Amino acid sequence: MPVLKRHGEELAWVLKDKINSRSAVVAVVGLGYVGLPMAVEQARAGFPVVGIDRDEKKVEQVNSGHSYIRDVPGEVLQTLVKGGRLRAHHSFDPLGGADVVIICVPTPLKSMKQPDLSFVISAAGEVAGRIRPGQLISLESTTFPGTTQEIVLPILQSGGYTAGEDFFLVFSPERVDPGNKCYTAPDISKVVGGVTPVCLDVACAFYRQSIKKVVPVSSPAVAEMTKIFENTYRAVNIALVNEFMLLCDRMGLDIWEVVEAAATKPFGIHTFYPGPGVGGHCIPVDPFYLAWRARDYGFHTRFIDLAGEINAQAPEYVVQKLIGLLNRQKKCLNGAKILVLGVAYKKDVDDVRESPATKIVGLLLKNGAAVSYYDPYVPVFRLSQKEAHCLESVPLSAEEVAGADCVLILTDHSCVDYQWVVEHAGLILDARNATRAVRRGREKITRI
Ligand SMILES: NC(=O)c1ccc[n+]([C@@H]2O[C@H](COP(=O)([O-])OP(=O)(O)OC[C@H]3O[C@@H](n4cnc5c(N)ncnc54)[C@H](O)[C@@H]3O)[C@@H](O)[C@H]2O)c1
Repeated sequence: MPVLKRHGEELAWVLKDKINSRSAVVAVVGLGYVGLPMAVEQARAGFPVVGIDRDEKKVEQVNSGHSYIRDVPGEVLQTLVKGGRLRAHHSFDPLGGADVVIICVPTPLKSMKQPDLSFVISAAGEVAGRIRPGQLISLESTTFPGTTQEIVLPILQSGGYTAGEDFFLVFSPERVDPGNKCYTAPDISKVVGGVTPVCLDVACAFYRQSIKKVVPVSSPAVAEMTKIFENTYRAVNIALVNEFMLLCDRMGLDIWEVVEAAATKPFGIHTFYPGPGVGGHCIPVDPFYLAWRARDYGFHTRFIDLAGEINAQAPEYVVQKLIGLLNRQKKCLNGAKILVLGVAYKKDVDDVRESPATKIVGLLLKNGAAVSYYDPYVPVFRLSQKEAHCLESVPLSAEEVAGADCVLILTDHSCVDYQWVVEHAGLILDARNATRAVRRGREKITRI
């Protein structure tokens, strides 16, 4: 007697066939730092891709082959758009024709550090309104354990379809590291948790087309927790080294020398470096998604709170260090000319979200300093939502560097010639050890 397949398994077979033949249409919702590279990666893997974003400007830019994400080369985007492999839309209607829907919308914090899931809920609602049998839906936005099962699933099932039977739902965290040239999307293993075993099976079949290693886990909540664990691990270890930075300063020791010496141990240590604070859409945000969720279980995530507290002290420490340096020159911060090098939250990216530079430049201005900045990737730096708080990047000229009472390095972009900067500067405070290779003029440099 032939074994009859269940409805969900039949739909899974059909979708896997489409995936294997690369005829499945992939829709990416949210074309930001994560979504645009993902859309490009899928199109390069051979899938027809539609990108959907609420921001009409981004849609226009994609369709004219203009990349606004540094990790996506314009030529690659142009080739895919011209070849009809990728098309962006402002309307959500193309979702109806998609076989695979990947959701990459923001998951920021509200003012009191509570999760703001409004983007996820709104995107899930748009998908639910157009859902059809046989679709795979993957949430990739970072969020707390339980979101896929408790929030997204009911929205998608509200029209009467059932996950695992009529459509397939998984959570698979995006783990890309913007600006990282060594590990790009295909090299970063993909963790996937399905709402049912069939959901997991279909999603693994899909991700294996473009990613070298797929790691199935037992549930969406495990996949959600995995991503937050990774980012909390970074937040806590950065806080640890930042706390050592504060203590080393009191004890007259050089934290960089300590960290570099410790890094020579061939086992048992993974090196994290001190800095002016944490930034970006992940490290300062994601752990607090978990801290908030943990409260439902009567649990206080002490490491997360402590790491947040210590990392938040780093910008003020940088300003205090700068005040001390100026003092030794018999100068005060009020009226001092400070040239900030780099305002992006980390090297070689243009992202200023949660950048410690926002806090530091704000404190410098508040204390009467005349601040200018140079960042090759950030032409305009918005200190607040108010238009009046915008600064424009100045050219990195010898006059600009020599005219500053202190050059403050906040981001160690690789394209800057730090030896040249040191030669022209009078005084440098280096918050990133960007000047580590500088040989001449080291007496002008102080590291945090
Ligand atoms: N940036 C990173 O380095 C990184 C790395 C890994 C994971 N993540 C996670 O990925 C998610 C996305 O982050 P990002 O940095 O790409 O954000 P982003 O702000 O750069 O991009 C999000 C995009 O989604 C669009 N959008 C918002 N709501 C929408 C909706 N309802 N429908 C369609 N489009 C909508 C926005 O216009 C924007 O273009 C977040 O959860 C983040 O935590 C980010």
